[in-house]
Amino acid sequence: MPAADSKRIALDWTKAHDVVPLERHLHDSMPHLVAAKKALANGSGKGSDFMGWVHFVEDHAPRVVNDAKNLAQRIASHSDALVVIGIGGSLLGTKAVYEALTHSFAMANPNQFQRRPVLLWAGHHVATDELSELLDVLDQYSPSLLVVSKSGTTTEPALAFRVLKQYLDDRFGARESASRIFAITDPESGTLLKLSQTHGYPTMQIPRNVGGRYSIFTAVGLLPLAVAGIDVNEFVEGARQARADTINEKNESLETNPALCYAAIRNSLYKEGYKVESLCHWTPKLRGIAEWWKQLFGESDAKGNTGLFPASVQFTTDLHSMGQYFQEGERHLFATHIRVLDESSLSRGAQKRKVRIPQPGLADGFDYLTGHNLEQIQSEAILGTSLAHADGGVPTLIWDIPEISAFWMGYWLYLNMFACGAGGLARGVNPFDQPGVEAYKVNMFALLGKPDMAEQSVQIRARLERGQRLRSIGLTQNR
Ligand code: PA5
Repeated sequence: MPAADSKRIALDWTKAHDVVPLERHLHDSMPHLVAAKKALANGSGKGSDFMGWVHFVEDHAPRVVNDAKNLAQRIASHSDALVVIGIGGSLLGTKAVYEALTHSFAMANPNQFQRRPVLLWAGHHVATDELSELLDVLDQYSPSLLVVSKSGTTTEPALAFRVLKQYLDDRFGARESASRIFAITDPESGTLLKLSQTHGYPTMQIPRNVGGRYSIFTAVGLLPLAVAGIDVNEFVEGARQARADTINEKNESLETNPALCYAAIRNSLYKEGYKVESLCHWTPKLRGIAEWWKQLFGESDAKGNTGLFPASVQFTTDLHSMGQYFQEGERHLFATHIRVLDESSLSRGAQKRKVRIPQPGLADGFDYLTGHNLEQIQSEAILGTSLAHADGGVPTLIWDIPEISAFWMGYWLYLNMFACGAGGLARGVNPFDQPGVEAYKVNMFALLGKPDMAEQSVQIRARLERGQRLRSIGLTQNR
């Protein structure tokens, strides 16, 4: 176990305060955040039906870890690949943690670097090409399927499941196919639960009082991560520690409670007219974490035509594409950086090394960096960038994370969930529902001819046909 007490996650907001003096705002908003923290801890107030995640990591996750590890062993005994089928909160967190903790070039040398069983992904889109390409590679594995859907009725995973189940049936026959299918769903209701009961698929549960985007520490994340050999005990331990630190009754100050501090700053900047928050990560390994973060805050904050737009960039890569916007674009943006203090890779098979800049005398103008390691260069790049952006009027926060390990991923994810819940409640919105995501589904189902929707289908098609007249059609050579 990492020495959690000698390492810390911290949030530096100096360069937010330099751009927008925040003290008064923060002072005003802290009582609301402290009340929100209490509501989360007591399970009261708006959205209280979906606050089960707050104490889940303490009260239930250790037991779920054991169950997940047992089932993971069973899956690994006959499968070297697990296709995780899900969308949104049922997939993003798992994919993010898996990618952060897996060798970036595992595909180039699977024997040495790939986790076994490998995790593959489906059900998070309706794109023919990717699902078809997945079917291309499945023959080289002995695969199992894990369908994750709380409602059990979500279109994208349901359709991918049909296709992939058919693949298993054709390859292994119905009986063996059924022994390779696992599900995570609501404990009491839904089509997926019924299907699992009918066909005897082993299931684990997403508790009723935990919403999708707050479910990473339930079986949703723990089972597939355990299958891939990720240390789920450490992952949960990080979250438990974050919970203990955050909800501690005595811990209500900005200086010592980064979750409340972060929530207070986000709300204050939003009030000051900063409508977009960009998460800036500095390693490609955190790309998935940014996707998880965008869903968490996007679905939770945006209510009643209000809420910050969560965006993300990967620096320094995107400094060469979006850097100009940060420096001189519309001033409605603030930046939240993630600085990983020790970037040595902890992925399976990876060498723990510092990368030093070699070869003095190459006449490329970079001799002054000979002997530096990339971490030092990265660190100066972060400081230089945040200062430049602050000078350009972009309030800038910096998260310091000790390392990319299961423990610190667990800690940081929990911290963000808490900040998101508390910040939403303090702003007066329900951060645990997502009524707005139904609108596209209604149109799509009507267009696809769902029974009982014939009338909507006619209306929607009429509206779409009107739109067809306003198209601009490019000139194309005959090919
Ligand atoms: O956070 C949420 O609730 C959503 O993103 C859901 O996780 C997502 O829509 C998938 O839903 P389900 O798990 O019911 O298939």
